[in-house]
Amino acid sequence: MNTTKTNVKTSRRRPLFGRMYPKMASAMAEGGMTERRESLLAGLTGEVIEVGAGHGVNFAHYPAEVTRLVAVEPEPRLRAQAQAAAAKAAIPMEVVPGVGEHLPLADHSVDAVVYCMVLCSLPDVGAALAEARRVLKPDGQIRFLEHVRADTAGLARVQDVLDATIWPRLVGGCHVGRDAEAAIRRAGFHIHRLDRFLFPPSRTPVSFHILGTAVRGGDE
Ligand SMILES: C[S@@+](CC[C@H](N)C(=O)[O-])C[C@H]1O[C@@H](n2cnc3c(N)ncnc32)[C@H](O)[C@@H]1O
Repeated sequence: MNTTKTNVKTSRRRPLFGRMYPKMASAMAEGGMTERRESLLAGLTGEVIEVGAGHGVNFAHYPAEVTRLVAVEPEPRLRAQAQAAAAKAAIPMEVVPGVGEHLPLADHSVDAVVYCMVLCSLPDVGAALAEARRVLKPDGQIRFLEHVRADTAGLARVQDVLDATIWPRLVGGCHVGRDAEAAIRRAGFHIHRLDRFLFPPSRTPVSFHILGTAVRGGDE
């Protein structure tokens, strides 16, 4: 692993979010999110990095064909729980402090980068997706499962109000109204699979989700 970028702040404490998020994730699992997580990770092989792994709720769902997983997580409480989950996992995993904007990996070294409900929380989505391009092998892919911008102007306006006021402070820097699909395309990825779904299955400002795969493709 390349750890030369020592000036990057790789830890960020969010104590309230760190305590609250595992409960939110359990509630989502009860609502059916586990199947989406399995679908996100199905078919992955080789070396993978998961960005913003939280408390490691995805770890049990990685296929056996993944030979090594590196997970970065800036929030210390969640990271400690992820490290405990990694110790019980069936495939080799390491969980390290880190942020999506500066990945601790060499250029063109991994087969896949996984984002799961994390593009909404990154301070600089463009920089993070550029990092994904840097660390991915030329035939590498990103997998993403994200809540995204609503498909009507009215709900999108509500999302904008939430994002400008309480939501990021309440939910660990999350933004409900981000257009993750557009950000992925802007970063030069080619989307190969894109499923849209409502979770929970009603039209609220936080229900709009996408799940998909995009490939790196060549550099321009
Ligand atoms: C909504 S949680 C999702 C956690 C996990 N991926 C999951 O599917 O349950 C968002 C995560 O992104 C992390 N995060 C926030 N800023 C980040 C950054 N700049 N780089 C990487 N992860 C970040 C948070 O600490 C948190 O664990």
